[in-house]
Amino acid sequence: MSKIDTRLNVSPVPPDEIFALNGAYAVDPHPQKVSLGVGVYRTDDGKPWPLPVVQKAEKELVVDDDLFRHEYTAIEGDVPFLGIARDLMFGFEGKQGEEEAKARIGSVQTVAGTGANHLGALPPTVWLSNPSWANHQTIWELAGVPRKTYPYYHAATRSFDFEGMMSSLESEAQEGDVVLLHACAHNPTGLDPNKEQWVAIADLCERKKLFPFFDSAYQGFASGSVEEDAWAVRYFFNNKPDMEMCVAQSFSKNFGLYGQRVGAFHYCTNRASTTLRDVVVNNLCHLIRGEFSMGPRVGCSIVKKVLTNEELTADWHQDLQVMSSRIKTMRKALYNELVRLQTPGTWEHIIQQNGMFSYTGLTPKQVYALKDKYHIYLLKSGRASISGLSQKNVAYVAQAIDDVIRNEN
Ligand code: LMR
Repeated sequence: MSKIDTRLNVSPVPPDEIFALNGAYAVDPHPQKVSLGVGVYRTDDGKPWPLPVVQKAEKELVVDDDLFRHEYTAIEGDVPFLGIARDLMFGFEGKQGEEEAKARIGSVQTVAGTGANHLGALPPTVWLSNPSWANHQTIWELAGVPRKTYPYYHAATRSFDFEGMMSSLESEAQEGDVVLLHACAHNPTGLDPNKEQWVAIADLCERKKLFPFFDSAYQGFASGSVEEDAWAVRYFFNNKPDMEMCVAQSFSKNFGLYGQRVGAFHYCTNRASTTLRDVVVNNLCHLIRGEFSMGPRVGCSIVKKVLTNEELTADWHQDLQVMSSRIKTMRKALYNELVRLQTPGTWEHIIQQNGMFSYTGLTPKQVYALKDKYHIYLLKSGRASISGLSQKNVAYVAQAIDDVIRNEN
């Protein structure tokens, strides 16, 4: 044991806030406890929701009884799945020039979105939004890549700080630096650039020769439309063909496949260097082989089953609508309750933000009070996972927020 201790040379690290909170919630016996911590979809009864289309696909996979279903895949992963994942992300629909465009993209299967982010976490320097998903910091830190941040959130107006982002990248980012961008439903703020702003960000990246790195964890989940949520990625790819970029793609949220770890990493070369694609894929395979050999098979078989069948694809779009509209409904319900209670502060931002999370503006002190007094769990930054709200608990949550704000001192 002492030998292991010596070799590991361990020093304490703080627990991951999101999963520590999830653990604390799970063992809290309070009957009215509410989880607004981890970003997972919940039904109005507070239950997990295996997507109906996923359940159908799973049944079909059992019936298919494919002899190869437990075999190794290629190192890059399940190749047909990768083509499907790429087409979903980049929106190829038999358009002119499609084959040339596809030839620019090298894709490999990853251990969900985290694995895709990790695989692409390479020097020289990365620019992360401030704030960003906390795991971005961890991933790039463990990869040993210097990290810088660009302003993203304007606390006074609770809005996206477009000017801050642009001026910081303009004056400080260097040629070759990576700029991490959330494709939609920014985590944790729920604030996305509008289309005009995305165009300006793309121009800036092109002009300053920065490398856009998209994290796409919510395609279809945020707005209900896979096209709308992929708009920024597709704009960069189609309109800036002389620029390289990459996309970390997760299927955890939009297929409800949280535990299956389904994801892909797409590296886009510029149009002048298509022969580079194979070299890039070989390098990625080298990294994959040395780390986990190849991505897991089961979850991507489910995605493949759904997206190769028209009827199942239509069912999936329907499931996306169910999830995204319930979240919008709960945003509105929380907003209405806070307005009805005349809770001090302004609350429009809750309905203006997009996707799984709301950056509520609650202070760490208020967040702790919500947990201690009301057994309501959210991140100390004030990020709340809106899917933890339901018609049954929203009045309780609003009342609790009202109380902790009014009785702060
Ligand atoms: C979250 O931000 O809560 C989710 O994306 C889950 C995770 O992996 O952190």
